[in-house]
Amino acid sequence: MSAPSWELPEWRALAAHRDGMAGRHLRELFAEDPGRGSRLTLEAAGIFLDHSKQRVTDETMRLLVQLAEASGLREKIDAMFRGDRINVTEDRPVLHVALRAPRGADIRVDGRNVVPDVHEVLDRMAVFCDRVRSGAWLGHGGKRIRNVVNVGIGGSDLGPAMAYLALRHHADRNLVFRFVSNVDGTDIVEAVSDLDPAETLFVIGSKTFTTQETMANARAARDWSLAGLGGDGRAVARHFVAVSTNAARVAEFGIDTASMFGFWDWVGGRYSMDSAIGLSTMLAIGPDAFRAMLGGFHEMDEHFRTAPFARNLPVVKALLSLWNVDFLGMPTQAVLPYEQYLARFPAYLQQLVMESNGKRVTRDGAPVPVDTSPIVWGEPGTNGQHSFYQLLHQGTHIVPADLIAFVRPLNPLGEHHEMLLANALAQAEALAFGKTEAEVRAEGTPEWLVPHRTFPGNRPTSFLLLDRLTPAALGRLVALYEHETFTSGAIWGIDSFDQWGVELGKVLAQRILVELTSPGDPPPSHDSSTQALVRRCRAARRS
Ligand code: F6P
Repeated sequence: MSAPSWELPEWRALAAHRDGMAGRHLRELFAEDPGRGSRLTLEAAGIFLDHSKQRVTDETMRLLVQLAEASGLREKIDAMFRGDRINVTEDRPVLHVALRAPRGADIRVDGRNVVPDVHEVLDRMAVFCDRVRSGAWLGHGGKRIRNVVNVGIGGSDLGPAMAYLALRHHADRNLVFRFVSNVDGTDIVEAVSDLDPAETLFVIGSKTFTTQETMANARAARDWSLAGLGGDGRAVARHFVAVSTNAARVAEFGIDTASMFGFWDWVGGRYSMDSAIGLSTMLAIGPDAFRAMLGGFHEMDEHFRTAPFARNLPVVKALLSLWNVDFLGMPTQAVLPYEQYLARFPAYLQQLVMESNGKRVTRDGAPVPVDTSPIVWGEPGTNGQHSFYQLLHQGTHIVPADLIAFVRPLNPLGEHHEMLLANALAQAEALAFGKTEAEVRAEGTPEWLVPHRTFPGNRPTSFLLLDRLTPAALGRLVALYEHETFTSGAIWGIDSFDQWGVELGKVLAQRILVELTSPGDPPPSHDSSTQALVRRCRAARRS
């Protein structure tokens, strides 16, 4: 087993290099090196990355790639694609790449090729989606399905919800889609309030089929559906389908397993939008477009698996992120899509990145003495520009940002798209170069206003440019971030595929639920703050 990355000479070389670069401004780096803007770029699988506005030089990139090599990244990538049990704390392989492998591929788990299983489910999904979309699948009262409500949370919601919005341009507009996740009753009540139960199909998505929120919403959906359909239990079969790895729990809930689309424990929830969890996506865009999306994922998988690290998009992005977090001390990461259809992409990435890499111990349980996952956040441009970009430009925190833009619009309208692109490009320029005091003075600004109107610049960005937001482009983009996340986790030596950090709150919530609903005052079993809050809630609900 190799030493942790932070104990390697390559890590120390980067720290020394960082010290040597202290005080260097992107203005100087660009002035000294006119070729930088075209050289510090990369293009693969339809995605162009300009990272010249990151605070790096060729030497930084060379040292970062050396760190990736020394930390055993190649072997770790091979282990994932080979189906090794790299999710050590749950003793599972991590094979979301098998979900988009072509039919003839051979990817083995315990000696069994799982690719035929993947395609068997995809084929069943396609038959079902075609029936619903064509009107051949009828509701209990004989009406065709007009509304699809996806019920799930976390990876069983964020991926489908993000993808539906991202691909809405390509979706069948005769179908209405809603996404219910929160255990706050408002979510489901509002989602179904204007729908006709006779025309509504529920997709209950839960890998485990035990998640409290999803099960509560699924029961509420069944009650609403049956109440609207005359209480006939047989209606469930026409209005409910399940997506899960847990057939026993699906059957227990009352959904026929013939109406279940399965996946496998080697697919993590946050890596599942291209599994059967994407059933709502396939219902929206149709099987052919869904397969095109899988093709985009696979293209990026192949690039990630085979490209040398220095030319490998996910690896380069992960190394830039590591540089910003661990060497430049910038703990957050903004994701700024200049594409309205990607409005939920930052939320999707929050789970992907932070649930994967928000870890504090290595795979062996030793503390990680450096920072791990960046704190991911963001909103689409140009809206964010009129909100939090003030902090990005002039605040005391430096926030590295990914700007994501598309050359061609899906909804051409006057000069809108040129304005959108111009804004994206302008923001990256302004963040990098700012505006000096001398430039502000030269504009005749009164002296007292000069500090207010000065932009320090030197704020790192990566610019991701794609052609058009197609299903394939979305697949490439999501796979890029998946593999970036994998690479970062591999260098930190953590398990990016478990999520023990969500457990404690779940257990405490179960206990508090009993206390909130019990007839008599519960015995004190918490700290004085929690205890007093429980008491206050109980008293307020009694009055
Ligand atoms: O609680 C976290 C989590 O396990 C996520 O990892 C997962 O995506 C989500 O809950 C939903 O889980 P499930 O699909 O099993 O309902």
